[in-house]
Amino acid sequence: MENDAGSNTRGGEKPAPNDYDLNTPIDSSSGGMRQGLASYGDAHFSLFLRKVFIKAMGYSEESLSRPIIGIVNTYSSFNPCHANVPQLIEAVKRGVHLAGGLAIDFPTISIAESFSSPTSMYLRNLMSMDTEEMIRAQPCDSVVLIGGCDKTTPAQLMGGLSANKPALSLVTGPMMPGSHKGERIGACTDCRNNWAKFRAGAIDIEEISGINEELAPTAGTCGVMGTASTMACILVGLGMMPFWGATAPAVSSARLRIAEETGSLAVKMHELKLKPQTVLTRKSFLNAITVLQAIGGSTNAVVHLMAIIGRHPDVAGTITLETFDEIGRKTPLLVDLKPSGDNYMTDFHNSGGMRALLEELKPLLHLDALTIKGNTLGEELDSTPLKKVPRNIPTMVLRPLHDPLYERSSLVVLKGNLAPNGCVMKASASKNRALLKHTGRAVVFAGSADMANRIDDPNLEVEPDSVLILQNIGPIGNPGMPEAGMIPIPRKLAAKGVQDMLRISDGRMSGTAGGTIVLHVSPEATDPSSVLGIVRTGDLVKCDLDQRLIHVDVSEEEIKRRQEEKRKTLEAESENNKSADVWIARKKLRGYRGLFMRSVQQAHSGADFDFLTAAGPTDT
Ligand code: FES
Repeated sequence: MENDAGSNTRGGEKPAPNDYDLNTPIDSSSGGMRQGLASYGDAHFSLFLRKVFIKAMGYSEESLSRPIIGIVNTYSSFNPCHANVPQLIEAVKRGVHLAGGLAIDFPTISIAESFSSPTSMYLRNLMSMDTEEMIRAQPCDSVVLIGGCDKTTPAQLMGGLSANKPALSLVTGPMMPGSHKGERIGACTDCRNNWAKFRAGAIDIEEISGINEELAPTAGTCGVMGTASTMACILVGLGMMPFWGATAPAVSSARLRIAEETGSLAVKMHELKLKPQTVLTRKSFLNAITVLQAIGGSTNAVVHLMAIIGRHPDVAGTITLETFDEIGRKTPLLVDLKPSGDNYMTDFHNSGGMRALLEELKPLLHLDALTIKGNTLGEELDSTPLKKVPRNIPTMVLRPLHDPLYERSSLVVLKGNLAPNGCVMKASASKNRALLKHTGRAVVFAGSADMANRIDDPNLEVEPDSVLILQNIGPIGNPGMPEAGMIPIPRKLAAKGVQDMLRISDGRMSGTAGGTIVLHVSPEATDPSSVLGIVRTGDLVKCDLDQRLIHVDVSEEEIKRRQEEKRKTLEAESENNKSADVWIARKKLRGYRGLFMRSVQQAHSGADFDFLTAAGPTDT
């Protein structure tokens, strides 16, 4: 009978054996549609119902019998760094289908830097929870995580690692550089450089407006070694992404071919049952830190890597901030990209990209670490030919190990009474290296608003050798640690040509920014035990890179006296219900903000939520 509601349009397809056999339990371990069934109290009915609804989207029994590869769709019209995600999804699907899988994409939240208030980092843990829970909840045998903009790739890896289904990363890729008056410019190092020139009066409104048009000329992530590029390179170092995945431009055909390859690899990962907690080992993370140091990567990556490490049951606790410093002491800076150097990601790609960098770094790497292909990093390097690159082309940005851009320690970890749990500085991005060993008088700002009010005050008592200190922009003090750590040079000094000063805060800095800037001071100023929180204008502050020291010249006795004074003031305000102090007020906050403020850890632990870490509560 034609068009009988019970007939099958594909001519007699039958459900897989046992799917509706009420005498045989559903084997959820066989994957596909049978895994993670919705709870209706009758597993066969749950599977029956799931098939009813997936068929509404046109899927046949044959396609539903294939391994199901989830593709995390992070497209958002508020995220220009992810503008190419729809094309990438198409290419990933092609790769999945060529390899015999069935590709199904699904959305999670998307985070773009300049569209996330108060700061994108505030939403990173939310995105990681979204990613983890959607991977867990839906019947995926393997997952492609499409990220790109700064916080998205770490959020996805945090979530993917906790969900622990086979998963690999695909990034949207860097944007192309623009052009202004014959010079290449690109987001976002040149955003900051040119804005500083504008603030100092060196360029006018017409010029800064023209520059605004050219800084981000295509889709993709910031085209310098900012956090997005850093995390992309780190994903390769971790073995979670193919070599060319980090650098191929967002708008290139190479990017689409990488997406296709990623789709096929996702099917292979399912076949090999390769889960992130298996692929990633301590050695993988040590390799990633070596890559971070060699590329002069973003300080944000230290926080993200600590958060990812903190999710791994076998690696958490075996790597600390000191590990980053130890690796830095033997790893030279080899990649000449802004903000530490002069070039753009497209140049790095054309110079051989991560494949070439890893070749140079071979003596420093653990070549027996695994990759998503199931082989070791060493085997993958041996089977992937180096791209032929003339070593003298002007865009050559990759230096050999014996002739580095910077001998060692792009990123350093400092400790001292000002930061007992550590803080981080990108030494390679210092614009005045004399400041790496410097003692100066503190000029203290109590928060971002205080700084905005006073930094350009002509009467501000500040000299070029002063140390600018910004308090209360840590994980709790200013939820999410905004990228406000690059305290602007006071305008009256900038106008005299001062380009760099020693600056210290408990906040973060964009990976695209540079200067002699100490970040992530832990514990943060709002914590009652913090010393950063009681530093006063006029105190002498010392930074000594060689000794890895950050110190304020205030006696222990005086520190305790100031902390006690601060505690009493806060308590009195609290009793009068007048306290605006976030440390106290957070206990009464609602929703995600309350969850964040009560659960976020300090920067040296990765600023993850305590209940999501491997050391936190378990599922059972
Ligand atoms: Fe998205 Fe820079 S703003 S990568």
